[in-house]
Amino acid sequence: RKMNVAIVGATGAVGTQMIKMLEDSSLPLGVVKFLASKRSAGKQLSFKGEPQTIEELVADSFEGIDLALFSAGGGISAKFAPEAVKRGAVVVDNTSHFRMDPEVPLVVPEVNPEALREHHGIIANPNCSTIQMMVALEPIRQVFGLKRVIVSTYQAVSGAGNQAVEELKQQTRDYLAEKPVSEWTADILPSGGDKKHYPLAFNALPQIDVFTDAGYTNEEWKMINETKKIMADDGIKVSATCVRIPVITGHSESVYIETEKTATVEEIKALIAKAPGAVLEDDPSQQIYPQALNSVGKKETFVGRIRKDPDEEKGVHLWVVSDNLLKGAAWNSLQIAETMYAMGLFE
Ligand code: A2P
Repeated sequence: RKMNVAIVGATGAVGTQMIKMLEDSSLPLGVVKFLASKRSAGKQLSFKGEPQTIEELVADSFEGIDLALFSAGGGISAKFAPEAVKRGAVVVDNTSHFRMDPEVPLVVPEVNPEALREHHGIIANPNCSTIQMMVALEPIRQVFGLKRVIVSTYQAVSGAGNQAVEELKQQTRDYLAEKPVSEWTADILPSGGDKKHYPLAFNALPQIDVFTDAGYTNEEWKMINETKKIMADDGIKVSATCVRIPVITGHSESVYIETEKTATVEEIKALIAKAPGAVLEDDPSQQIYPQALNSVGKKETFVGRIRKDPDEEKGVHLWVVSDNLLKGAAWNSLQIAETMYAMGLFE
């Protein structure tokens, strides 16, 4: 049976990548629909070399659709994901709206594919920073156990959408033209939903999303709560600091873990080297380590700088890098759909 697929937010930073992932997908495709706002309706995008007209998103867009991939913001998902489900579609939602809903599986296929069996129409794609950390930590957790995680992120701007990318590029041009910082435009970053805005060019902003409880930002809470849900273990201690840096694509993370059992660096390297979705890039003698620039366009998560805490036997540092638009968003979403198909969950 062929599958009819809709991409919601097809013109966005993630949606554009979803189209590419769908072009390469093993799913048997029937109708493919590109949905976006009224502003984009009637414009064309290409799919497998053929022009394809963008349609305005309305509830009836999902008539006859089997799979809907959403990445047009939490408000759009809140309103339209239930409409898609009502019309018989399975929704894979890239926004944070449904992630912590106990009825909604939150899935990284390398970690918890079995959770897909429990779905009620909607499956949530985790936060980009959480996903790549899960790919790196799950193989270690399976063998040595995981007691705690302390992570600091170095996140790319494309995670904040296309307009944020344009804002950074313009600030960079202004810097190079020697325009004073006071004349730069900052309307979006660090968070479109917050009151103040700061330049990101040649800067580092320790705020992603808005501040919520206990001095943490929402992005930091996402990493904390989603890790526990995906690994199905509320006992794992997790703490995070999320920082936006002037990189276009590719999130980097400094991850510190404490395992239950003592592991050697060699043992951890061997686990990462054979872990699904992970690539070991770790040879200090040759200056080999993961880099954001090298991750762009790749589906894998790259892991390196693996080393022990000199003062803590069970403490290990890792440097974890992935393309935030692919494994962090578009690829993980499509991988969820392909995994469901392989599990017979679309029948
Ligand atoms: P559009 O380009 O028509 O505004 P990004 O994450 O890069 O900011 O992209 C957001 C995506 O969400 C875009 O594809 C955008 O479409 C889409 N979008 C935003 N608002 C709406 C809306 N009201 N209805 C449908 N799609 C929307």
